[in-house]
Amino acid sequence: MRIGLIGAGNMARALARGWQQPVLCADPVAERAEELAAETGGQALASNAEVAQQADLVVLAHKPAQLAEVAAQVAPHARAVASILAATPLAALKQAYPDRPVYRFIPSLPVEVRQGAVVAAADDQQDAALDDSVRELFGSLGTLVTLDDALVDAAMCLMSCGPAYVALVAEAQIDAGVRYGIPASAGAPLVVQTLAGTAELLRLRGYDTLAVRREVSSPGGLTIRGLDALERGGVRKAFSDAMDAVMRRAG
Ligand SMILES: NC(=O)c1ccc[n+]([C@@H]2O[C@H](COP(=O)([O-])OP(=O)(O)OC[C@H]3O[C@@H](n4cnc5c(N)ncnc54)[C@H](OP(=O)(O)O)[C@@H]3O)[C@@H](O)[C@H]2O)c1
Repeated sequence: MRIGLIGAGNMARALARGWQQPVLCADPVAERAEELAAETGGQALASNAEVAQQADLVVLAHKPAQLAEVAAQVAPHARAVASILAATPLAALKQAYPDRPVYRFIPSLPVEVRQGAVVAAADDQQDAALDDSVRELFGSLGTLVTLDDALVDAAMCLMSCGPAYVALVAEAQIDAGVRYGIPASAGAPLVVQTLAGTAELLRLRGYDTLAVRREVSSPGGLTIRGLDALERGGVRKAFSDAMDAVMRRAG
């Protein structure tokens, strides 16, 4: 399947690296498209229309505000369209791209290393073979979860904003270690490996977060004191507020 990326920004680059195959692409900044094409062994084209003409699947990786402007160039030529635009429901996508298969996904930055969380918006069957191939394409980037379209923006707060939240949490832990004399160069691998290892354990325990916390927190021990301090510091409330902040803008 020839993939054509509209926009060659951060997420387009992450997707292309994850797919590990040559892509077609276009971007208002020609050098940006050329750089991405060169990295994947693909081709930068001069216009969005040319990408749509040559691609089997057009992947919209521009900003949501450019939906109508891009659709005017791409819709006359595109065979099938997959969108990664935030806060852009399926209905709006189908209105912009009528009479052809249209898919909605939200990826997260770790798709670059094929460890991304990807949300797919549930939809009726459009073209059985193509539906399967497109799902497989996005599924190859990590873990794919299908949700009702109305829930996709909320999910985005968890998994697409998530890498930034997790990076901030890691940074805060590393800095806490620095206060006690652990250099960041030693603290960072310790903290990051703990994140990766805990993720693996959580999967193994069926995502039972409490079970993992209980295993680490012996009664009267050290960890429970740390957890108590985090709760008093408002860690749950902070994540809940982050969700509200994102949803106020996206919903
Ligand atoms: N970043 C994430 O973690 C993430 C996660 C999930 C979904 N998304 C969605 O992914 C999309 C891209 O996000 P991003 O973070 O990669 O943004 P980005 O780095 O700004 O990339 C967007 C690219 O599209 C280009 N562009 C602007 N107008 C265009 C046009 N008319 N035709 C073709 N390309 C055009 C931009 O060029 P200029 O800079 O010159 O305008 C830029 O290179 C957004 O819709 C966002 O909602 C992002």
